[in-house]
Amino acid sequence: MTLRIGLLGCGRIGQVHAASIAATKGATLTALADALPEAAATLARATGAEARDTAAILAAPDIDAVVVATPTDSHFDQIRQAAENGKAIFCEKPVDMSVDNIRRLVDIVARAGVPFMTGFNRRFDPSFATLRARLRDGAIGAVELAIITSRDPAPPPISYIERSGGLFRDMMIHDFDMARFLMGEEFTRLSAVGSALVDPAIGAAGDVDTAAVTLTTASGRICQISNSRRAAYGYDQRIEVHGQTGMLRAENQLETSVEIANAAGFTRDPAQHFFLERYEAAYRAEMHAFAHAVTTGTPADPGIGDGLRAQILADAATRSRETGQPVDLPPE
Ligand SMILES: NC(=O)c1ccc[n+]([C@@H]2O[C@H](COP(=O)([O-])OP(=O)(O)OC[C@H]3O[C@@H](n4cnc5c(N)ncnc54)[C@H](O)[C@@H]3O)[C@@H](O)[C@H]2O)c1
Repeated sequence: MTLRIGLLGCGRIGQVHAASIAATKGATLTALADALPEAAATLARATGAEARDTAAILAAPDIDAVVVATPTDSHFDQIRQAAENGKAIFCEKPVDMSVDNIRRLVDIVARAGVPFMTGFNRRFDPSFATLRARLRDGAIGAVELAIITSRDPAPPPISYIERSGGLFRDMMIHDFDMARFLMGEEFTRLSAVGSALVDPAIGAAGDVDTAAVTLTTASGRICQISNSRRAAYGYDQRIEVHGQTGMLRAENQLETSVEIANAAGFTRDPAQHFFLERYEAAYRAEMHAFAHAVTTGTPADPGIGDGLRAQILADAATRSRETGQPVDLPPE
């Protein structure tokens, strides 16, 4: 069976997904839509898919699955309609800015019985996926401590910050999912701090650009997350997990692997610039995993419950940063 996909949103990440679908055996990009007709027309020309409007794709009998790559505030209605029309759904993170809305969608998707995958692409990064597989194979025994470092090369425009929901929901959401992915046990307590050190305008907009979060599980395992909206040396994406019998670490991917050594020391390239370069392989692999799950009838993973749990952690971190108090997390 060839999975016939309709893509909603032809912006930055929509274009990545279109390329990933083209590279996925057993899937085809049948149609795409964008609120800006020119954006849809341009991507339609590049891919050979048909440009339609969003409502037509959501109702189309020749579409089996939709990829939701529109701005977050459009996700709710598109997911609801797709589910009601029996389509499999791949949705970009965050599923919605509101935990209550995601809970509603969990029910809607369950009632409809359609496959749903949340776009936590970092789970599919070859290095992070390998690190996690070795962890699960017992390479370092029981996990005791995880350290996740995630820093963007430069902050986005203030207009983006103002609509982003804040650093914890917009940026750290990926790290909350990674923390859960690595730990294998839900977190019960969280504590967050944050400052606006990179750009005072981010602080004036009510957000932070520098943040650290500590999470603990019921059995006492600890995870630390460090985020910044700036890194002079490129997109900084590293993971370290410490366990009973050793340590697993995934380092940055650099622009090239060339190193120069001279009397001043050893010099290597900056890290790959940003997410489109750094996670290209991960975006391909996640779309392959989605198509495979839908066509074989196996559960799509990460699912909508993972989107919900990450959003609960992001809300709790926002509250902890604002109040200066740790937050106890509800069992889900
Ligand atoms: N997983 C990741 O690494 C990652 C990276 C970037 C963005 N995202 C997520 O992807 C989503 C889109 O982000 P983006 O950066 O691609 O945004 P974008 O602004 O570049 O693209 C969004 C596109 O959707 C179109 N659009 C708006 N409303 C629409 C509607 N109702 N129907 C159809 N098209 C509509 C816009 O015209 C635009 O072309 C967001 O939820 C964002 O959080 C995820």
